[in-house]
Amino acid sequence: MIVIKSSREIALMKEAGKILANVFDILEPLCVPGTTTKHLSEVAEKVIRDAGAIPAEKGYYGYPAAICASINEVVVHGIPGNRKLKDGDIISCDIVVQYQGYMADACRTFKVGNVSSEAERLVKVTEECFFKALEFARPGNHVGDLSSAIQKHAEAAGYSVTRDYTGHGLGKEMHEDPNIPNYGIPGKGPKLVEGMTIAIEPIILQGRKETRVLPDGWTAVTIDGKLAAHYENSIVITKDGYEILTMK
Ligand code: MF3
Ligand code: CO
Repeated sequence: MIVIKSSREIALMKEAGKILANVFDILEPLCVPGTTTKHLSEVAEKVIRDAGAIPAEKGYYGYPAAICASINEVVVHGIPGNRKLKDGDIISCDIVVQYQGYMADACRTFKVGNVSSEAERLVKVTEECFFKALEFARPGNHVGDLSSAIQKHAEAAGYSVTRDYTGHGLGKEMHEDPNIPNYGIPGKGPKLVEGMTIAIEPIILQGRKETRVLPDGWTAVTIDGKLAAHYENSIVITKDGYEILTMK
């Protein structure tokens, strides 16, 4: 069931989104060689709690940390720990903030020191995929329009898109209907309606599309060990388009 939000609910999600955008501004300069992913998570948790909000991933189905920190071949759900970032890594920080009962969900992939031109291109194309999808974000269009825009842009660049993780509606819950896959067919899927709040999250793989989960039950990695990048924002569908909730 797709839950349409009131203007009051959207305002609260926007507050959550502002807090989250600020977290990224604080984390980005910390993504340098030597920083542990545990430190990133602890800093994020403090910033979120100091703003009167909750890091909603912590405890979600038993997830143990405030952020997902996924380095290089880790696709999603990397658990923060004592691993240190090193020059040339890319790290995605995927974070959900809950403010007065409402969620904002976003992800950035940061570059650590000097990254290869190939890694650089993957990060750039992944970000572009999100904005390609946005061009179709307005009432009357379909989820498949967003999905196919992501898939087309990624595949035209020689990359593949995951079938294993999707974007989603969100609001009182972190994950609500509809699913927003990173692949699809124009004109198919649920229709976009004013007041829908969705997280669009291209997860783009340098090599094969398949992923697998490590024995910790969370960490998803590329099957071929090649890189993955992830970029996500929460948006609301407005009368004639969209508004991004998780950018300043
Ligand atoms: N933030 C993720 C998403 O984009 C979900 C995180 S799963 C959790 O949907 F267990 F870490 F919370
Ligand atoms: Co999400």
